[in-house]
Amino acid sequence: MNNNEYNRNAMDLLGKLYSGGRSSEVDTADNINADLPLEQRFRPYSLSGLGVALEYQRMGMRPVSADLEEKAARFGYEFEHLAVTLGTVIHNIDLKDDLTDEQISFIRQTLLERKVIFFHDQNLSEDQQVEFGKGFGTLDAFPFGPPGENPYLFYIHHNENRPGSENNWHTDVTWMENPSLGSIAQVDVAPPIGGSTLFSDSHAAYLGLPADLKERLQHVHGINDYRVFMRKYPEELHDEIKQKVPFGVSHPLLRTHPETGKTALYVHLGFVRQDALFDIRTGETLPIEECRDIIRQINLQHMREEYVCRFTYGTGSIAFWDNRAVQHYAASDYWPHERVLRRVTISGDRPYYDPSQSP
Ligand SMILES: [Fe+2]
Repeated sequence: MNNNEYNRNAMDLLGKLYSGGRSSEVDTADNINADLPLEQRFRPYSLSGLGVALEYQRMGMRPVSADLEEKAARFGYEFEHLAVTLGTVIHNIDLKDDLTDEQISFIRQTLLERKVIFFHDQNLSEDQQVEFGKGFGTLDAFPFGPPGENPYLFYIHHNENRPGSENNWHTDVTWMENPSLGSIAQVDVAPPIGGSTLFSDSHAAYLGLPADLKERLQHVHGINDYRVFMRKYPEELHDEIKQKVPFGVSHPLLRTHPETGKTALYVHLGFVRQDALFDIRTGETLPIEECRDIIRQINLQHMREEYVCRFTYGTGSIAFWDNRAVQHYAASDYWPHERVLRRVTISGDRPYYDPSQSP
């Protein structure tokens, strides 16, 4: 068939489909969908679009509350939102200043509403970073180092001979009984290009799961441990380590955010024992095929673009994320360049799932 014949046929078919004119499909969809709940307006294969829409609806159809916007204006701060439901750069703020309680509370509220927040050109010293972190709670030392001069800092240093390796979706330190509320990371050496961290909205990711999977996950827990770090310590210390830091803690795959009440998908695939997910009601391990199916589906979920924002660091940029609300992924795309990041983590509480709170 030549091109002329093909186009004639295509237009003939179009005429049969759209006899009412070009915009008739949109008009028809408007009429049909006007009274439908959001769940029925999205196609079944576009659940990630639905997840973000449901989360945005819950946020009052705006990136931040009017209250927060008014406070930002009062302080002279400017918001730059990176994605619809998460990720905001706060401009015109210097974290080296002695922050007032109102400013700390503003930052905390922005973190709760936006899940991950960013600051450029801060260049905090180690001690200043620790002080800033303490504004939000007590800090957790990281036993698997390397530390800074200040032991509450954990350094992540990559270069030509040790390329970036945090390129998997995760939330931090789920091997802890009380995993950290949030992490504050400053980049001291930024690669000239690349080296971004991606963040994914664990609330929207939960909302966009198929209904049957949401249902199945309600009672599923996993055992999390730090086996991947054990090789850093000599064998003869392993017993002592396990005595000092509990090895193997149970956490739900769905987590209720203790401050917002929202449900999040909560898992670190490197720490959870993937073949031994279990039903908390009976204590019984799920069949291996079911474990694999669940892991496969939730692993895919955070990768979907609709849930993701991407932040590129300059030297002295800071990312502050809520480990109860987002997962993150450090792109390992900057070889052979150097990237040095240092992090503090704020103490959190024991994860739980309470289905009676909002979905
Ligand atoms: Fe991390």
